[in-house]
Amino acid sequence: MRLFLDTANLDEIREGVSWGVVSGVTTNPSLVAKEGHADFHGFIRTLAGLVPGPVNAEVVATEAEGMVREARALAALGENVVIKVPMGKEGLKATRALREEGIPVNVTLAFSPNQALLASLAGATYVSPFLGRLDDVGHDGMQVVRDTVEIFSLYGLDTYVLAASIRHPLHVTEAALAGADIATMPFKVLEQMLRHPLTDLGLERFLDDWRSLEQARPAPVGRDARRGARRS
Ligand code: E4P
Repeated sequence: MRLFLDTANLDEIREGVSWGVVSGVTTNPSLVAKEGHADFHGFIRTLAGLVPGPVNAEVVATEAEGMVREARALAALGENVVIKVPMGKEGLKATRALREEGIPVNVTLAFSPNQALLASLAGATYVSPFLGRLDDVGHDGMQVVRDTVEIFSLYGLDTYVLAASIRHPLHVTEAALAGADIATMPFKVLEQMLRHPLTDLGLERFLDDWRSLEQARPAPVGRDARRGARRS
């Protein structure tokens, strides 16, 4: 199970990578616009140098030819750049063409196991079921992840299942239990995964007990005491 950050905020990415647990990043046009990265290519180049694994950059063309053109330019920005292509007829055509050129694709905006199956058959390296957005409209997003993992395993399909649109730490646990290869999440969720009130309480108690031990230590006598007095 690998963890990716789903953000275009460079400070968050630097911080997550420094913890040694983030091995990739996903971005999308909304996240890039939110951070105001007007020089999109410059931003992806910076990201590619910062992150130890895949850096996902999404195309915005709506027909296959344009998607492939954008993808080639983005893939040239770093060896670890993965191209996000939206689910749909044009996306599938672009995925097949890019596969043949050896450019890895993440088919995004997948909301059903059938869409995930199509993405895999078209040659996607990753497929991203958006589980939070399904939950938002009253569907069981995690079931799509479970079914996709099962279908891929039944037929030996080698596309990675990237659980996306994660909203809280329980989504990460459930995606891991469902067999998702990767979970991509906002930085806030990564921070929430780190915390537990019993960890904070336990650490506070350990440190209090240690301080009380230090206070209970016998005062220095003789030469040690004189040395201490001279120092103060
Ligand atoms: C994944 O690659 C997407 O960028 C992301 O997970 C979408 O999440 P959202 O539904 O929170 O926008």
